[in-house]
Amino acid sequence: MKHIFHKGTNGKTLFLLHGTGGNEEDLIPIGKHIDPHANLLSVRGNVLEYGMPRFFKRLAMGVFDMDSLREETQKLYEFLTEASKDYQFDIEEVIALGYSNGANIAISVMFNYDKAFSKAILFHPMIPIRDLELPSMKNFKIFIGAGTNDQMVSQNETYELVSMFEKQKATVKVCWTNQGHQLNKDEILEAKIWYDLNI
Ligand code: MLT
Repeated sequence: MKHIFHKGTNGKTLFLLHGTGGNEEDLIPIGKHIDPHANLLSVRGNVLEYGMPRFFKRLAMGVFDMDSLREETQKLYEFLTEASKDYQFDIEEVIALGYSNGANIAISVMFNYDKAFSKAILFHPMIPIRDLELPSMKNFKIFIGAGTNDQMVSQNETYELVSMFEKQKATVKVCWTNQGHQLNKDEILEAKIWYDLNI
């Protein structure tokens, strides 16, 4: 997969996953802000929607192509495993950081592969899959940035996602901002505080 790798010094790796229409450059400044000493591995989504990169196909707004989601989830997981060998980082020290479509595929990876990463910062995520038997998420630590005026993700969907994680024993912190679907400064600052306390 097209990607950028920046070597850090503290043994941690932030796995950066952009939103629809973004690319592997987008989240680099946020990754550097969250942990200036971590490796940064930032990936471009494999799928194009009218020229806009995404991590899996969708049939309409918020309606996902589940075959594409399954395939791309597996590819992303395999990519991460290979990258950990190529760049020699510890896969157990990976923290996913995804926005919107990138957060959605990060969740799909966590739901499908409990060995992939157990820590994640998810900005404006949705529930990508509902009919899976989920693994135990004991020791998982998850930060969610959500907007009370998010037109793409209802507050109920966020609450439902949190309860799916908590049912599997993950520890979840939700940061609500009075904003829409866009990534905003307040949630990035809160994510940094959470990261410094928890990771
Ligand atoms: C998705 O397709 O993953 C969500 O609708 C969010 C987005 O547009 O990226």
